[in-house]
Order: sequence, then C-alpha cells, then structure tokens
Amino acid sequence: MGMAKKTLAGAIGALALLAPALGLTAPLTLTRADTRAGVDLSGTWRYSVDPYRDGLAGFHRGPAGEGHRRYDDVDVDAVTRAKPNALYEYDMDRSPTATLPQGWIGHDPTLRYYQGLMWYQRRFDAPALKPGQRAFLRFEAVNYTAKVYLNGKAVGEHEGGFTPFSMEVTDTLRASNNQLTVGVDSTPLADGVPPPVTDWENYGGITRPMRLVITPATFVDEAWVRLSKDGKIAATIRLNGPEAAGREVRVRIGELGVALAGRTDANGVLNAAVAAPRSLVRWSPETPRLYDVVVETGEDRLTDRIGLRTIETRGSEILLNGKPIFLRGISLHEEEFGENPTRTITEASARALLSEVKQGLHGNFVRLAHYPHSEIMTRVADEMGLLVWSEIPVYWLVDFDNPRTLALARGMLADNIRRDRNRASIILWSVANETPISAPRNRFLYQLIDDVRALDDSRLVTAALLTDRKTVDGQVVMGLNDPLAERLDVLAANTYNGWYSNDALDALPAMTWRATDKPMVFSEFGADALAGFTDPALRRKFSEDFQKTYYEKTLAMADKAPTLRGISPWILKDFRAPRRQHPIYQQGWNRKGLLSPTGRRKPAFYVLRDYFKAREAAR
Ligand code: GCU
Repeated sequence: MGMAKKTLAGAIGALALLAPALGLTAPLTLTRADTRAGVDLSGTWRYSVDPYRDGLAGFHRGPAGEGHRRYDDVDVDAVTRAKPNALYEYDMDRSPTATLPQGWIGHDPTLRYYQGLMWYQRRFDAPALKPGQRAFLRFEAVNYTAKVYLNGKAVGEHEGGFTPFSMEVTDTLRASNNQLTVGVDSTPLADGVPPPVTDWENYGGITRPMRLVITPATFVDEAWVRLSKDGKIAATIRLNGPEAAGREVRVRIGELGVALAGRTDANGVLNAAVAAPRSLVRWSPETPRLYDVVVETGEDRLTDRIGLRTIETRGSEILLNGKPIFLRGISLHEEEFGENPTRTITEASARALLSEVKQGLHGNFVRLAHYPHSEIMTRVADEMGLLVWSEIPVYWLVDFDNPRTLALARGMLADNIRRDRNRASIILWSVANETPISAPRNRFLYQLIDDVRALDDSRLVTAALLTDRKTVDGQVVMGLNDPLAERLDVLAANTYNGWYSNDALDALPAMTWRATDKPMVFSEFGADALAGFTDPALRRKFSEDFQKTYYEKTLAMADKAPTLRGISPWILKDFRAPRRQHPIYQQGWNRKGLLSPTGRRKPAFYVLRDYFKAREAAR
C-alpha cells in the first residue's frame, strides 16, 4: 500500500477507532436493504388509534394489562371464544385497514390533526433462515417515535421521523404467521428534533417503506465509495457480524477496471483507495454518470449505483469537479403533488416533483428541506442530475441546552450521512434552519459541524441563517452576522424582504448585500400566492400578481449580491402548514409554492424559469 493510501487509511482508520468516543459509534446501517433478500412489509396493515396510550399503561399508570396490550401475540376473537369472560378492549385483527407506507392523514380525514399514539399490526410469513443467516426489521421512516413488537416481544424503539432504523429479530422470527405490531406516537416533544412548533404538517405514521431483511452471518453493513480531491477512488467498507474483523473484502467497478481488495481491521473496517482511471466520467448535472459498484465479502455481495465527482470551495466560489458553479435551485418539502398528500413518496411522485425542477425550471439544484427526505428522492436526483442540499430538522427553537436533544440531533445527522453518503447528488449537509443565536445554540451546532467533518470530508457544510439588515445613508445593506459563519463552508441566507417586511417591492432591487469571503446562497426567499387569485389593480399579498413581481424584484436584487453562488427559493409547491389559517388564501396550506398542490404553475414559476435559462446560457 503506497504512502498516500497509508495516510488516508490511517486517518480514516483512526476515525473508526475514535467514532465511539465521538458518540458516533456506527450503529446498524444496513445499506441497500432494499436489494437484500427478505420480505417487503409495505401493503395492508390494521390500525387502531390510542389517544390515551391505553396499550402502554393502566389507569393508575402501571403496566398495561391483558386485554389492553395491542402487541400481545393473540387472536382476540379466538381467545374470547375460548374464554367468554375475558375482557378485551381492542382487536387488531378486526380493526380498520390502511395501505402503508402513508401518513395516517391518508387513512381517514378526521385524523389530519391527530397527534398521539397509533397502533399498526400485520401478519407475515418468513422464509426459513439457513444456518448462520440473520434477520432484521428495517423501517425507512416512522414519525415520530416507534415501539416495535414481534410475536408479542418488544424488539426495539426509535425516535426521529426522517431516518431509517433496523433491529435484529433472528431469534424472535418464526416460519409463519409472524405478528408485527408498531406503536407510532407522533406527539412532538419539547426536547425533540424538530421542536413542537414548525411550519409544516406533522404527518404522523409509518411514512416510508419497511421490510424484513435477511443477511449472512457477517455482511457488508456499509460501503462508502467516493472520488477524493486528490483524484483517488476511495472506499470505506464496514462489515457487521462475528467474522467482521480481519476479513477479505473486494470492491469492483467493472466499467472502470477498478478492483480494490484488502482485509478489514479490528473494527471490521476496510479503507482502500486507488488512482481514478482516465476513463472516469465524473458525475455532474449535465452528465449524471453512475457506475455499478460491487462489494463482496465471503458469500455476501452488495451493489450500488454511484456517481463520482468532487465538490469544494475556493474563496467565494463553489467548485464542482474543479469548475465554478451557480446553484439554480428551489426548495422542497417531502410531499407529493395532489389535493390530499400523505407524505408518500414513490419513484413516480419523486420524478414528478424533480422533473419540474430539472426540465420545468431548468434548475440544477434542490434544497430538500427541513429534514432528511426519502432515499428515493436522492436516488432520483442522482439519476436526473440534480445537486442536493440535505438537512436535519434542527429548526427554529430547539432545546439547545439539553444533552438529550443534542444526542438526538447527532444521531439523526450520523444516520442521514451514513444512509446517503454514496449519493453523488448530495453536495451540502445542513445542520440548522433559522436558529436564534445564543451560546448554547452555537455549542450545539459547532458539535454538529464537527460531526459532519468526522463522518464525511468529501462534502460541504452549511446552515440556513437569519439575515442582518442595516440602513446606511438611507441605503438598505443586507448581510449575515452569525458566529456560525466562520465554521461553515457555504453561508446560506433566508431572506424575505418584501414579504415579511413592509418594503415596497420596487425598493428591493436597490438593496445591497455585503460581500462574503465564502460562497453565499439564498436558501430561502418567497411570497405566498393562492393559485388563480389575481389582483392586478391592488396587487395585494397572496395574489399571483404580487408573487410574480416579488420574484422579479428579488431576483434583480440577487443579481447584485457580489458573492452569491446559488438560490433555492421557498418553495416548489404549496404544502400543508397548520400555522397558515387564512380562510380564503391558506386553509392550512403555505402558499409560497411556484406550483399549486396539484402542480398548476403560477406566473412566478416562469419568472424563475427564465432567470435560470439566462444563467444557464451565460455559463
Ligand atoms: C421560514 C422557514 C420555512 C417557512 C418559511 C415561510 O424561513 O424556514 O420553514 O415555511 O420561512 O415562512 O413560509
């Protein structure tokens, strides 16, 4: 192994040893679980609401008794036939059905504002495990906390609505009629992440796919492959299982003639790198080239489709594959087009959203706000050629002084990075959105920034910050005045002059922005418009006329910001937002979309599209 590889391997190997001390002990990642043997558990489930958590505790808060524990491994009807005097106040097998994954808002409109405990249950048969094989339950996302029971036994819990989790069930699984019960509690917690007050629908429920996953005894749990800044294809492979240490691993990219091999260290980790061949076609929005990467160890074989590119900053420029780039973007929530979205992202709904960015707006960038989106979105972005800003929901007023809250945020960040760091589309990890400056907040976010650097030195770190506004000699001067800025790679400003201010729209173009020594992006600006509401005479807020002029004037202002390197206006489409209750214009929706909930383009859509087309032509 050459000196360079030794250095790289040494650094990352040290990290693997340091990870536990950093609180970054690698939990189960189960990368590419969707391609592994097992059982798809999406589909028809039974559900039963439990607003007073009767399934978890008795009337004096003692343990829940028989006849209340929704997760007991029983057929209630059969039991009560055998014991007529038995009292059961639930019966999951005869409760209503729903098709998962789907927020429970989709099961029944009366559940829109339900925040509490919901029980889900289904039965399934499992393939017989061969000797040594292991079985895991994997959930891509459950919002907000999950208690999981298999065949009447508690097998795991999870907090956090936007990152995957898995639990081993090798010893609990049976050949047939497995009873899987999940208690989902959407109640927002004062010390949770996100905090209880946000500007989006909470969407309680099992909102992404889930499956039973079967693996060999020792398997590839994570395989991170990327192009390093010094032109090497680097691989970090982590095994899980009794023979993870000192085990032979091979990594192959057939189309490039790349083959890496080596033995894992005492932690079950292999780090290897090789100079990238000249035939490599680097990934970019224009050429979203993906390569099949095969990772093998013993009988285990995993594949992933990975793009290879570099992203870095130089002064105030963002460099993609060494060339300056302007991020022509838009923000998105995880919510599909339609009158009644249920936060159910499929490949089709992801393509419908992202093609409006790529083909509709001529964009090359999306801010997936304000939490890790479905992995489907980032895989489609990889294929389509869209750069991605990925973020965790450290949003507004988080309990920054609370160690539990920090641990939650750190875990979400690590899970997000471990799930997605093979996605070439992701260039930015964001650690916060519009958080008020304080010493505890700074410490909290500094830790998260350090964690990103420890987990992924191949991407940039950012955070959406609130702006600083001054008037100098009658001239409005905008800027960022946040201690976080010195630790970020890209400075991001949420700026709403003209919407959340009394500024006349005509005053916007004259507003100036202080130059920054790092790249700056406008991570948000926007104005509401109810699709179809026009008001040419008064051009009131919430009219399409106002929104169109707001975009024209704000973009004119943006063009004068000296170190602006990208924008992701708020937001692609209207989205459900319980704080927004104007009876005519909002009805529980945030109307800053350039598209209506069903995808009707508003006039401002074309203002942004023309702006991006002009930027694209000027490249
Ligand atoms: C804020 C916030 C968004 C919110 C938006 C708005 O900046 O980041 O989550 O929806 O502005 O007020 O519409």
